[in-house]
Parts: sequence; C-alpha cells; structure tokens
Amino acid sequence: MRRFVGFLLTAVFAALVTCTPIDSAPFSMVTTVTEEGHHLTTGIGTRDNGKREIRDLYANYSDQWALYLLGLLKFQQVDQNDPLSYYRISGIHAQPYELWQDAHGVPGMGVGAYCPHMSRLFITWHRPYLALFEQELWKHVKSIAEQAQVDRERWTAAADSFRIPYWDTARGVADGGIPEFLLSPRWPVVGPNGTLVIDNPLYWYQLHPLDRKDFSNADIARYNYTLRWPTTHSSDAIPQLGEWQKAYSEGSKSRQNDINYAFHWASSFQNFSESLENAHSAIHLITGGYPKDSSGQEIHGHMYNTETSAFDPTFMLHHANFDRLLALYTTANPNAWLEPSAVGGNRNWPTFWIPSGGTTDADTRLPPFWKNENEFWTSNDAHHTDVFGYAYPETQYWNFGSDEGWRNNVRGLIQSLYPNSARETLANAVATGDTLTHVVDVDSSFRDWVIHVNASATEMPSTYRAIFSLVGDFSSDASTEIGMWIRMRVDGSGSDAMEIRQAERKGKRFSATEQSLTRAIGLTSSLLDQITAGKLESLDPQAVLPYLEAHLTWNVYGGDDSKRLTPAQLESFAVEVTSTKVYIPKDPSQPLEYSTDTTSYPIRKV
Ligand SMILES: *[C@@H]1O[C@H](CO)[C@@H](O)[C@H](O)[C@H]1NC(C)=O
Ligand SMILES: *[C@@H]1O[C@H](CO)[C@@H](O)[C@H](O)[C@H]1NC(C)=O
Ligand SMILES: *[C@@H]1O[C@H](CO)[C@@H](O)[C@H](O)[C@H]1NC(C)=O
Ligand SMILES: *[C@@H]1O[C@H](CO)[C@@H](O)[C@H](O)[C@H]1NC(C)=O
Ligand SMILES: *[C@@H]1O[C@H](CO)[C@@H](O)[C@H](O)[C@H]1NC(C)=O
Repeated sequence: MRRFVGFLLTAVFAALVTCTPIDSAPFSMVTTVTEEGHHLTTGIGTRDNGKREIRDLYANYSDQWALYLLGLLKFQQVDQNDPLSYYRISGIHAQPYELWQDAHGVPGMGVGAYCPHMSRLFITWHRPYLALFEQELWKHVKSIAEQAQVDRERWTAAADSFRIPYWDTARGVADGGIPEFLLSPRWPVVGPNGTLVIDNPLYWYQLHPLDRKDFSNADIARYNYTLRWPTTHSSDAIPQLGEWQKAYSEGSKSRQNDINYAFHWASSFQNFSESLENAHSAIHLITGGYPKDSSGQEIHGHMYNTETSAFDPTFMLHHANFDRLLALYTTANPNAWLEPSAVGGNRNWPTFWIPSGGTTDADTRLPPFWKNENEFWTSNDAHHTDVFGYAYPETQYWNFGSDEGWRNNVRGLIQSLYPNSARETLANAVATGDTLTHVVDVDSSFRDWVIHVNASATEMPSTYRAIFSLVGDFSSDASTEIGMWIRMRVDGSGSDAMEIRQAERKGKRFSATEQSLTRAIGLTSSLLDQITAGKLESLDPQAVLPYLEAHLTWNVYGGDDSKRLTPAQLESFAVEVTSTKVYIPKDPSQPLEYSTDTTSYPIRKV
C-alpha cells in the first residue's frame, strides 16, 4: 500500500517539487497569514478523511452532523466585515465585486466576479474555493468541539475528521426529493451541550446587516435572508418550498441523464467540463427559482443568479458534488486534463483576472486563492484532492491494491451511479416483463434519442434558459420534463471588465466553433414515459418523429427581464434530434455500447 501511495505521488504530483509525503503531512494551521497578510488557502491537513453525501452524514454520523450545523451557524454569524466571514467568502464568487486578500486582476480592469463562468477554468477554480470555505468552516467546528464540557475527546475526534458534505442531486427519481433538513427554518441538533433547536443554517443565510449597495438586483437588495422561490419582490418575501420541491422532482431524470452524457461524451476534458457546467446550472435555477409576479415578471432567489448564488447555503453542497464529479473524471481518465486554450469567444470567456487575448491552461493562476506568499493555486496544483486533505467515498485509493484496480472501480461506479435513465427503466422492464419490454430488441438494443441544440453565441442574450418538454403548445409554459439548457454569464457590473467584454462581443470575430453554443439533452426516458402512458407506440423513428413534430416544445427565456424570446430572437437556435442504436451490456458497471448507426433529424418549430 505504501508503494502505491508513493506511486500516486510521483504520478500525480510530478509537478510539485516540494511535496511532503501525505502519510506524514502535519495538521496544517488553517489561519496561516503571511508577512504580507494574505490568508492562505490550505484545506484541512490530513488526507484520509472522506467527504460524505449530506444524507449519509445526517443519518450515520450524528456527532459530525451536529458539529456541522452548529459550526455553519457560527460561521454565518461572523461579522460581515471580517474577510474570513461567511459573507466575504461567499462574496468572492461574484457580488459585491470586492478585492479579496489583495488578489488583483488585470491592471485597469477593476474588480468583477472571481468565479470564471463559460470558461475553461470553471470546474477547477471551484476546487480551491471549496477548500477555503471548508478550512474556515472547520475552524468553527473545531472551536465548538473544544468547548465541550463532557466527552471532549469524542467531540474533538469528530471535528478532526469532519469534512464538508456534498449533495448528489443526480441520482434519479428513486433517490427521493429535497432532504427535509433543507426545508425547515429551525432544526434540532444533539451537540456537545445536548439537544438544541437552532436557526437552520442550511435553510438560509441571514444578512447582518443587509448592505443594499452590495447587490445590483433590486429584489436581492431588499431581502434580509437568502430565499428560494421568493413569493414577492418585497422584503417580507418568504420561500415557496413546494415550488422548489416540484421543480426538483421534475428535473430528477434529466439531471441524472446530464451526468451520464457528460461522462459519455467526455473524450476531451473540455467537453466534460462544458457538459458539467451546463448540468450544474440546473440546480442553481431550480433552487433560486423563477416564480412570476402578478404582472408576469419573474422573481429570482439568490441561487438563481451567478452574482448572488454563493450566499445560499446549498451552493457549497452543490459545488462539492460537482467537485466530486471532477474527481471521478480525473480518476477514470488519468490522461485527460486542461489543454491550453485561447481566451475569447463564448467558450472561454475573459474575466477581470483572465485577460482577453491571452491563453488559459493548467498553470493559469486561480485568484484569490493564495498557495503561499507569492503564488496562487493553479489547476495543476489542485489536480488531486489530497493536497486539500480530502477524498470522496469513490476516490479513496488507499483501499485498493493497485492504481488500475482503483481506476476500474471508479469507471464501474460512474456507470452504476449515473446510468442513462432509459437503460435503467428498460433493464427493469425486461426483468419484470412489463409493457415496455417490446421496446428492447432481442439483441438487447434500443434506440437512444438525444436533442442537440445549436445557437449562435453572438445572437443569443448572455443569460438564457431554454426548457424542453412534450406539452405540444408553444404558448404555454413548458415544464422541465425533458430538460433545460442554461447559460449564465456574469457581467461584472460596475467594473471595466464588462465594457471590455461587450466591446469584444460586438467587435471581435470568433472562429466558427467559438461562435456556436451546443448542448445535448437526453430524450429517451421522456419518450418511455409517453409509451407507458399509451401516447406513443415505440422508439422507432416512424413513431417518434411524428410524435415529436406534434409535441416537442421549447421555450427560451432570456435577457435581464427573463422574458420569453420571440421567434425573431431565436433565429440561430437550431434543434435536431438524433437516434442511435445502443446495446445494453449485462453488467451494470459496463457502459452502454453505442453503435455507429446514428441518424439526425432537424425539428422545426411549428
Ligand atoms: C447509512 O449507512 C449505511 C451503512 O453504511 C448505508 O447503507 C446507508 O445508505 C447510509 N445512509 C444514507 C442516508 O446514506
Ligand atoms: C455550550 O455551553 C457552553 C457553556 O455554557 C458555552 O460556552 C458554549 O458556547 C455552548 N456551546 C454551544 C455549541 O452552544
Ligand atoms: C431588514 O434589515 C434592515 C437592515 O438590516 C432592517 O432595517 C429591516 O427592518 C429588516 N427588514 C425585515 C423585514 O426584517
Ligand atoms: C462533445 O459533446 C457533444 C455533446 O455535447 C457530442 O456531440 C460530441 O461528440 C462530444 N465530443 C467529443 C470529442 O466527445
Ligand atoms: C451545429 O453547428 C455545427 C457546426 O457549425 C454543425 O455541424 C451542426 O450541424 C449544427 N447543428 C444544428 C442543429 O444546427
């Protein structure tokens, strides 16, 4: 086992010259401040502690669960002027667009959102961000354990192995709805002082005080706490939890399929990362919500917009899960990683710290996360989660005898955790002989249907949401039964970066691939629902195509007011469906086998 660890170190950290062997890594001090006064991002020292799925933490690790809620509440109560407060750390992501720890961007560009969206650095930037959040939360978890009057050893041991949980929202319909502990403003915990009913820090973040000038969205600048599906535009708005639950359930299959397809089309890291960014946006939208007021105007909770999403306590739970998906990917694909890429165009958008006209690669610095006095973390530095002292349940390589054994195990888990939901349904149908059995051929194959969308980046608004469903009526509000495509760009208002970006958008000519935005959305499981309901006969093109002509609907909402876009605004928005013959292997840990027999059919909006 030691040899294996050594091997991994050489392989993964070849670029890290000053790496301490992880077995003996000291517990790092999380409050390290350098001579210049920068707080360093360190994560939590020791390696062999796994992050857990939040429902697992809740059900099976009651001490850590209690410390988590008590610690998070304490973290949220830190004075908002403190750079290490929940408020300021959430504010790193985007608004209030403030310099954090002297991490300047391009001279003359002001300060915008640190988070790079529609960028090749999207997924890797969030890893040190999570590490910073975790180390600061952990300080509060530790201090609560250390104040225990009885059983102090037990509590400090629980605190030492505490890691932030993740929320896996892509495990399909059978995985259930939103956990109850996200749905109640008060929650009981059994902590070092016995049972206490506390303000639930997972339900909201309460601003103390609300500083209106920090937020550009007029509604957000009125709310004293973070809200999901707010009832009104005014400060007495309350969340509409039922709407959140409904949207979450409706999107369950599509979220599972998004992750399945992300891994399926993951031959390049860039493709994987783009698919992941697309897939991750759905949780932002359905958590913040988009209810309409009486005049038809949408109201957005904090999680909806990139500018304010990090203040909602589900943000880190959600991003920890996407960090885990990144870890699964790099384990299964050890040679795939960030390639150098020109900055510009809508697939590698500049920010105030990523200069337009430059290049991003795995060595691009990721501010504001200081690694030491002089340097920021890079994607290469953060390639393996060991450097931040954690692993996920699936990536604990020390439980395996060989590197290949571990990687193969993860490859199998990806398939069994995130199967194409149509495959899951059909495998069950065959096993139980139900009405869908006729959809599967004798050779265990079926037709997998996928929607492919293309749109011109220069003609679409910078932020939009396209919702696909089978309601068949373009004038009604489509539900998310098939899936959604969301592009959320932060335009750092108040910073020069925004003007430069806009000028660039108008003036610069991009290559054809940069101009076109694409998105693939699984359609088969929605078609199977129609077959089960007796509305469609089979997955054969003769049945499916007329059905889609009559029923496939998409509505696109975009721009600042999230109004439905008109056909004239959607001229570049092209939809086609493809059908591919795929074979279901007997072993559920093996991926679907895609044949080369694919046919494309353009779909016209009638
Ligand atoms: C609790 O632990 C058991 C045993 O490991 C596991 O089967 C179960 O799934 C866990 N509960 C949750 C909610 O994850
Ligand atoms: C527990 O009680 C002690 C003593 O009153 C107090 O100092 C500490 O803050 C309490 N801890 C929590 C988590 O409430
Ligand atoms: C919201 O907070 C502001 C200032 O922090 C306060 O003046 C106001 O009364 C609060 N409103 C509500 C509805 O709590
Ligand atoms: C990238 O993903 C798209 C779907 O989003 C897929 O059509 C394409 O084949 C993928 N490319 C590679 C190289 O995997
Ligand atoms: C999308 O764009 C690509 C590249 O320009 C093109 O090959 C493909 O046919 C387009 N698809 C649609 C649906 O327009």
